[in-house]
Amino acid sequence: MARVYADVNAELGPGWYEYEHLHIEWNVPDNYEIIKRVGGGKFSEVFQGIDTSNEETCVIKVLKPIAKRKIRREIKVLRNLAGGPNVISLLDVVRDPPSKSHSLIMEYVDNTDWKLLYPTFTELEIKHYLFQLLTALDFVHSRGIMHRDVKPGNIMFDRANHKLRLIDWGLAEFYHPNTEYHIRVGSRPYKSPELLVGYSMYDYSLDLWCVGCMLAAMIFRKEHFFRGRDNEEQLARIVKVLGTDTFERYLEKYNMQVETDHPDLLRKHARVPWAKFVTNDNRPNVTPEAVDLLDRLLRYDHQERLTAAEALSHTYFNSVRFGAANKVKDPVSDSGFASM
Ligand SMILES: Nc1ncnc2c1ncn2[C@@H]1O[C@H](COP(=O)(O)OP(=O)(O)O)[C@@H](O)[C@H]1O
Ligand SMILES: [Mg+2]
Repeated sequence: MARVYADVNAELGPGWYEYEHLHIEWNVPDNYEIIKRVGGGKFSEVFQGIDTSNEETCVIKVLKPIAKRKIRREIKVLRNLAGGPNVISLLDVVRDPPSKSHSLIMEYVDNTDWKLLYPTFTELEIKHYLFQLLTALDFVHSRGIMHRDVKPGNIMFDRANHKLRLIDWGLAEFYHPNTEYHIRVGSRPYKSPELLVGYSMYDYSLDLWCVGCMLAAMIFRKEHFFRGRDNEEQLARIVKVLGTDTFERYLEKYNMQVETDHPDLLRKHARVPWAKFVTNDNRPNVTPEAVDLLDRLLRYDHQERLTAAEALSHTYFNSVRFGAANKVKDPVSDSGFASM
């Protein structure tokens, strides 16, 4: 069971977490015009657009034909989280009668592609960025919701305004204790051990594994910290870093077995000390505080991982919290970057 926020949905009740029968009033899309395509994935085509009623830029997320249940879930989650810190805003939902396509109208972020952005981040920027991500996650979890697809492509960042938004709520789900969830969620480099070994009673802590993967990639300056060609190799990559002994203890604790013929999973691996990943290039990012935080996030056992709130109070973020205190006194900056 989740160490925190386990009973939130029971307390808030079905009006909060039920979405199967949610009735959605779809508006007509007449006010929205497409400007250009900005992205897309398995489930959508995403465009920068304009709301001609007020000339404001927006995002039009045109949903591919997907299950009604999934559309209802994404909308329910977005409405429940409306106004939360660093959570993307849902502005409207529209249906185009001729094409029958459904679109979500969202707040636009002038995003810089993470593959270009992350290698240029300073040590201080990494900290601010992750602090904002964790702030979003603590809020989301406190509302009984797991994101389940935290990864760079689902975090928009407007560098000029230091604005971060967690997007893509297409896989988000409400957390109920002792419930089995689909393990086919997330994106491979960010899939947590529980997903890879088939432990389905997972909880919010799965999102913290992704944060750990991002922290590792950022401080060690790698595109993805763990990268396998398939799920088995993904697990093997993790075990080759965190070691076989702890992995076996983890499997035992949860009564899990992994059937595999992957040579790297059959062999024994000693744990690799984090210092082994330090190079001349990434050394300034790899402070003792960063490594300590990383070590507490990248744990096989989801119950051992720091929660979002615990991570936020880690000493790694001391300077950010100090900056946030300054921010209150500084009315021109609302970014939390007052100390930079
Ligand atoms: N609010 C937004 N502002 C700017 N770009 C966005 C926004 N929302 C989505 N995008 C772009 O569209 C892509 C796909 O959107 P996302 O919501 O992740 O859909 P999918 O479920 O198909 O992955 C994102 O990776 C991003 O490049
Ligand atoms: Mg996405």
